Amino acid sequence: MALRTGRPRGAARRRPTMAERADRYELYERAVHDPVAEVDFIRSTYAALRGHRPLVFREDFSGPASAACEWARRGPQCRAFGVDIDAAVLDWGRRHRLSRLRPAARERVRLVHADVLEARTPHADVVAALNFSYWVFRDRATLLRYFRSVHGALRRDGLLVLDAFGGYEASREMEEHTRFRHFTYVWDQAEFRPVTGEITCHIHFRFPDRSRIDRAFTYEWRLWTLPELRELLAEAGFSRATVYWEGDDGDGGGNGEFTPEAAGDADAGWIAYLVAEK
Ligand SMILES: C[S@@+](CC[C@H](N)C(=O)[O-])C[C@H]1O[C@@H](n2cnc3c(N)ncnc32)[C@H](O)[C@@H]1O
Repeated sequence: MALRTGRPRGAARRRPTMAERADRYELYERAVHDPVAEVDFIRSTYAALRGHRPLVFREDFSGPASAACEWARRGPQCRAFGVDIDAAVLDWGRRHRLSRLRPAARERVRLVHADVLEARTPHADVVAALNFSYWVFRDRATLLRYFRSVHGALRRDGLLVLDAFGGYEASREMEEHTRFRHFTYVWDQAEFRPVTGEITCHIHFRFPDRSRIDRAFTYEWRLWTLPELRELLAEAGFSRATVYWEGDDGDGGGNGEFTPEAAGDADAGWIAYLVAEK
């Protein structure tokens, strides 16, 4: 009796392509996310501003909650919350990130399936919204509502940590290709609309066997400027919002060191942190 394989008799077994075997969340994290550097920056900045260590952290737009997991690794008193609206990415984080923690650290991370505008969590020392995720709020009223809700979710001396990108290349419609060991990461600024400030970006992945994942992720954002953000943070009740600008590596790139800056440089493309104090 013939085995029922679902394959026509005589058909050759096709090897799955690299794209078919890839995990888009894993590729995203390898290409654009450095939770160790993020948590280092947040903890040292908090200690410098407040004179003591932060304990409770909320990662908004957390995706798989990698930064929340990194936070929990930093000590037995370090508790973290990861808030995301997408149950599938939280589930991926539970299976691939929380599972890597020791049981005691895992106990200190809680994933919250919610819209960040509605999330209710215990008061935090730090709330972070990174990789520009809060740019999903494309009008002033909604972004102000978000900043106000974070203000209410922070302890008395809490911080909101954001990041932003800009420079004259930020509104250019273009692709940037970065090679990694087994794939190429493509950042695609597909469309920018000057009248609304809205930008559509995609992430694609390409593989050495010529397979690809097009539009692995798509973002419909507003390209907010630093002065707009600082004014909104003040309106939401934050007492001060400081821009931390990246230092120069001497070769036209950033060196990963961020320091307070009042003016900045007219770089083609920059990334900065914005730290708002309650
Ligand atoms: C670019 S990923 C950020 C992942 C990771 N935190 C990082 O820094 O790279 C954006 C995430 O925001 C989530 N998201 C979008 N709108 C949201 C909202 N209103 N509330 C909560 N999460 C939201 C998406 O589900 C997605 O996982």
